[in-house]
Amino acid sequence: MTLSSRISGFYNLSLEERLAELTRRAGLTEEEAEALSGAAGLDATQADHMIENVIGLHALPLGVALNFQVNGRDVLVPMAIEEPSVVAGASFMAKLARAGGGFHAHTSAPEMIAQIQILDAPDLPSARLAILEQKAELLAEAAEIDPVLKKLGGGPRDLEVRLIPDSPIGPFLVVHLIYDVRDAMGANALNTAAERLAPRLAALSGGRVHLRILSNLADRRLARARCTIPLQELAFDDFSAEEVRDGIIAAWAFAAADPYRAATHNKGIMNGVDAVVIATGNDWRAVEAGAHAYAARNGRYTSLSAWGRDAQGNLVGSLEMPLAVGIVGGATRVHPTARAALKLMGVASANELAEIIVSVGLAQNLAALRALATEGIQRGHMTLHARQVAIAAGAQGEWIERLARRLVEEKTVRIDRAMEILAAWKTGGET
Ligand code: MEV
Repeated sequence: MTLSSRISGFYNLSLEERLAELTRRAGLTEEEAEALSGAAGLDATQADHMIENVIGLHALPLGVALNFQVNGRDVLVPMAIEEPSVVAGASFMAKLARAGGGFHAHTSAPEMIAQIQILDAPDLPSARLAILEQKAELLAEAAEIDPVLKKLGGGPRDLEVRLIPDSPIGPFLVVHLIYDVRDAMGANALNTAAERLAPRLAALSGGRVHLRILSNLADRRLARARCTIPLQELAFDDFSAEEVRDGIIAAWAFAAADPYRAATHNKGIMNGVDAVVIATGNDWRAVEAGAHAYAARNGRYTSLSAWGRDAQGNLVGSLEMPLAVGIVGGATRVHPTARAALKLMGVASANELAEIIVSVGLAQNLAALRALATEGIQRGHMTLHARQVAIAAGAQGEWIERLARRLVEEKTVRIDRAMEILAAWKTGGET
């Protein structure tokens, strides 16, 4: 099915009309459409099987980012997020990127790392070699653990032994089992494999195995995206295209050089990344942990993205980060909204999902830098934020828009003022 991610006037449609449009375009069933709308979806009984002490459900707004083209394919991107401006920002930047050919993304093999900590080995260098000598046998054993994964072409790929020379309890060994998890996030497969190999590793090393757990620094499972924004697309209002381009590059340079700025810069990237990770039922804490650890991999925390200019003067951006996401297993399959979200995106593999997510992260980063480098973040935020303030102040129905507009006009987007205006309107007065 070829689907266009450009839907003009989508923002102005009613909620029902938007859903009907998506249902038609993505060929969703009625059940899937209801799962996306919130009319159906996860119920408390299903939730009761997912975690402990369930008392109910917790909802988030689910939006759809438009205009995305990733590797030549149009894709509608579901985003679950409470923050205003994120979905609009991603959609707008995807439109600019589209004019330069969209996003080009790729991933490494879906290889994850399981760590096995070995304590009290009498001689660490000898223990290390004893384990490495048995590498083929250990990998063969690990290959038999998950027959489903094996059938799909996944399984163990390599085994490394690291000597940690210095720690608060002295030196010890760590075995890394590199494991291709195909379309799964992989935590279960990895943890099972690590636990299964533990007795042999203890015997080979003469020590005892302590922790057996995956690493969230998934630096063997990287996703990368790049885009070109044609120079002329960057001009707006009184800002020239060159000014915007150079402003974005200078904003990125700040994040590249300063960890205080890099944390906020990367947070902007994660606004986009997490929203899709959550919408598709994936583990956003794992993705967050991996992203920030990767940003500090060279000993100094820095930007995950890079911005510059090409020979023609166009703006070029790239983003590289670990992305441990799956499309099988866990909540991706159990949660009806996550399942419908994956169908909406039409992804066939975990790698394809990661390629879209990393593109959204890059778009989101651009949206933030473009605003920060020009008019500042507050102007764009203001209208959407004003709506939230209006709702918090008690406005309902058409009063929400009216009150939000008024707050923006007054440039006072504060709840006390919103309540004051609302109270006056309710008593028929004006303020
Ligand atoms: C806000 O959620 C995200 C930003 O702070 C990101 C950035 O500063 O680059 C706008």
